[in-house]
Amino acid sequence: MATKAKEILISGRNVILKTGYKAIFKPLAFQTNPEWIHDRMITTGAFLGAHAPFRAITRAAFGYMHPMLAQNVAGVHFAAPVGLAAGFDKDAHLIQILPSCGFGHAEVGSVTAKPYEGNEGQRLWRLPKSESLMVYYGLKNEGAPAVAQRIKKAKRTIPIGISIAKTNCKETANTQKGVEDYVEGYKSLYKLADYITINISCPNAFGGEPFTDAKKLDALLGALSKEQKTCPIFLKIAHHMSDAQRTELIDIALGYGVDGFICANLGKKRDNPLLKETDVPEVGGYSGKPVRALSTKLIADVYKQVQGKAVVIGCGGIFSAEDAYEKIKAGSSLLQLITGMIYEGPQVISSIHQGLVRLLKADGYNSITEAIGVNSRQ
Ligand SMILES: Cc1cc2nc3c(=O)[nH]c(=O)nc-3n(C[C@H](O)[C@H](O)[C@H](O)COP(=O)(O)O)c2cc1C
Repeated sequence: MATKAKEILISGRNVILKTGYKAIFKPLAFQTNPEWIHDRMITTGAFLGAHAPFRAITRAAFGYMHPMLAQNVAGVHFAAPVGLAAGFDKDAHLIQILPSCGFGHAEVGSVTAKPYEGNEGQRLWRLPKSESLMVYYGLKNEGAPAVAQRIKKAKRTIPIGISIAKTNCKETANTQKGVEDYVEGYKSLYKLADYITINISCPNAFGGEPFTDAKKLDALLGALSKEQKTCPIFLKIAHHMSDAQRTELIDIALGYGVDGFICANLGKKRDNPLLKETDVPEVGGYSGKPVRALSTKLIADVYKQVQGKAVVIGCGGIFSAEDAYEKIKAGSSLLQLITGMIYEGPQVISSIHQGLVRLLKADGYNSITEAIGVNSRQ
């Protein structure tokens, strides 16, 4: 089929899917408990991914690829920039269906050395006025050995990143024990990953975010650097750092040869004017629109600091191709999302990719690589 006709068909398909999602599925789904529906989505996605005909149908409904979007990042080939951010597929159930949904990569986890059932009580809330989610899982996951077994069995067609965090318990709040725990998780998982992310920025862990302290990060990266390295290592950082703290942490990471920075994790500060609900839960970190500008600023700051010695992966509040393009021009080579998919529908991934091609062409670029960081180089 001629390319132009195919593009028009995909646009039409996405408009229909978006309308159906917003008019029917979302109003019903938003009546249910957010964690319950999330768990049902995981079960459904795992089932669809296990059967080739369902993978093909899903691809016909949600797929989109374009050669202008392909690139090599940190030595890994990515056919498209938008990936699934860590936290949606914590235990690696969705590896086989995510490529059919249009994702160019997926980050599973965060996984910890030991299993953890998560914080007690409610731990996921929707903030619809803010187009955000409040997350207080506390690093719930089945633990590195179980997740490793599942990843080993999965057929993979896109790069799979594995996010590693520190087991959420009292013992690992001690720096040495915390470092040992990260290393144990790393050893169980690094051979299975196309890239590894070290998550030092979970706002919901026991003892806070201890590895955002320079000395502790130095100890952690020093210990990890003694282990074998078979793929790029990225560091996932937080928004709420002073310029001085961020500069110091990134310099330390660059000193250990960290290949990239994921900007960023959930927001924490409750005085964010984009949090529009009056009854925002006291616990947890928030995603979506309230973190969009914060993450774009961090992307630009980190991009300027690293001067090409590492890549930047943008994450936070991407709901449209325009949001994605803003982050690419700020300095992101790759992008990740969760909340945009929940508020806009799963077709948003192909809409973003298709819209990016349109925006790149309108600006006279031949490929995504040419646009990375243009707004942070002036
Ligand atoms: C339900 C949920 C769980 C999350 N769990 C993790 C996690 O385990 N590890 C992590 O690094 N980030 C986690 N995050 C943060 C996301 O990876 C991402 O940084 C954040 O949601 C901002 O992106 P978004 O606005 O596109 O959702 C989680 C986010 C959500 C919504």
